[in-house]
Amino acid sequence: MSERMPMVAGNWKMHKTAGEGAILVQRIEERVIRLWDRVELVVCPPFTALKSVSTVIELDRLQIGLGAQNVHWEDEGAFTGEIAPRMLVELRCGYVIVGHSERREFFGDTNETVNKRIHAVFDNGMVPILCVGESLAIHEAGGTESFVRGQVRAALEGVTTEQAERLVVAYEPIWAIGTGRTPTPEMANDIARSIRATVGALHGPGVAQSVRVLYGGSVKPENARMFLSEPDVDGALVGGAALEADSFADIAESAL
Ligand code: PGA
Repeated sequence: MSERMPMVAGNWKMHKTAGEGAILVQRIEERVIRLWDRVELVVCPPFTALKSVSTVIELDRLQIGLGAQNVHWEDEGAFTGEIAPRMLVELRCGYVIVGHSERREFFGDTNETVNKRIHAVFDNGMVPILCVGESLAIHEAGGTESFVRGQVRAALEGVTTEQAERLVVAYEPIWAIGTGRTPTPEMANDIARSIRATVGALHGPGVAQSVRVLYGGSVKPENARMFLSEPDVDGALVGGAALEADSFADIAESAL
């Protein structure tokens, strides 16, 4: 049995205003109170809702972690529209999603900029949730494993072993995101194991064992348990089903 604490993280994407986000996190809390010490829950609202959600978490002493969906790698500067790591730290963000396929596809993220963001997140004391995953074409050509391994290696270039041991990786096949299609749990587990082995090759078996690998892509209450019961899958990164307290809580319960 692994010692890794399961994690269920909600990626709210471009949904929820500051007010709506505050209500959602309260509702989640009402549903999950008894999971606190057994599953780590994280919500990742849009930047504009981080403050209100953070305030609810603080005032109500919720055991829910806070994450951002992206970050710039510089400390400050003339980068119109960007958000610096320390701005997130001040709002008590513990996590940052880095390299989500939507950032890679629509907003120009590359393995190089993903690597810079990973460094910035670690250097500021936060933990990256590194997203990797293949396109349908790569999947159909049987190239998933080598593609994903390459993404992990590139993202972790220059990362220290001490940092790597806190890393969270989310394996999200692009063709499974928002589509209702998923790989089989065995396929997800194979890639999760391969991701763990890649981290192990870089930083040793101890780090490989402490890194948490999540599955993401059309995770719903109906299928969550299948994925989360796989030995190398330590949790889920959830999009659409994270926007309702009940479905998010049901998924969190499947991690037990
Ligand atoms: P989905 O999104 O659960 O809506 O498929 C997952 C993600 O993109 O993180």
